[in-house]
Amino acid sequence: MLRIEALLADSPKSLVLEDGTKVTVRPMVKQDRDKLALFFNHIPEEELYFLKDDVTDIRTIDSWVETLNYGRVLPLVVEANGRIIADASLHRRREGWRRHLGSVRVVVDPDFRHKGLASHLIDDLTAIARKEGLEGLYAEIPADDQGAIGVFRARGFTQVAMFERNILDRTGKYHDLVVYRLELTERR
Ligand SMILES: CC(C)(COP(=O)(O)OP(=O)(O)OC[C@H]1O[C@@H](n2cnc3c(N)ncnc32)[C@H](O)[C@@H]1OP(=O)(O)O)[C@@H](O)C(=O)NCCC(=O)NCCS
Repeated sequence: MLRIEALLADSPKSLVLEDGTKVTVRPMVKQDRDKLALFFNHIPEEELYFLKDDVTDIRTIDSWVETLNYGRVLPLVVEANGRIIADASLHRRREGWRRHLGSVRVVVDPDFRHKGLASHLIDDLTAIARKEGLEGLYAEIPADDQGAIGVFRARGFTQVAMFERNILDRTGKYHDLVVYRLELTERR
């Protein structure tokens, strides 16, 4: 089991960004619904297809906050001055052939980018995944999302697959998808 009690007891965690901005990091809670909607409103239209889910639909956010299960999806939110400015999550299944793996997603408000925030969140989730005994972490990224590719590569992830035309965006355009992986343990 995820050490949820320990995680919650340890939250919110304070963090100082590279430019001195003070923020807090904690697991998402049900009451975050409206703040999350506001946060995703700040993500530029042209970046929306970088995100797997349709975050412009409030029902997507409702489905997240109404069904929180940190053992299945652990979403961390970052707050600055009462506003959510980043969201990162660790996804895993406890059964089936992928039970040794997790996947990570991250999105940061454009006003708070290039301050090391995504890197910090990926490191946090990687540490949790290691403690949980996961053997590997995946990130699925649109091939044209150079920002995300740069961040995950810098954290040690390497490209393991590419799927052509795997993403169909809101305007009906196709994009290739790359899969990056980080090994957390020695291979048996
Ligand atoms: C990708 C994203 C999460 C990066 O967030 P961030 O907090 O700015 O990332 P960091 O500050 O930790 O970046 C660390 C390093 O990654 C690399 N990087 C970050 N953005 C980059 C970009 N646009 N192009 C190339 N490299 C980039 C750089 O090496 C960067 O260091 P630098 O800022 O000193 O140059 C953010 O741009 C974002 O939310 N994008 C839209 C959503 C998305 O693409 N999510 C990924 C899908 S999983």
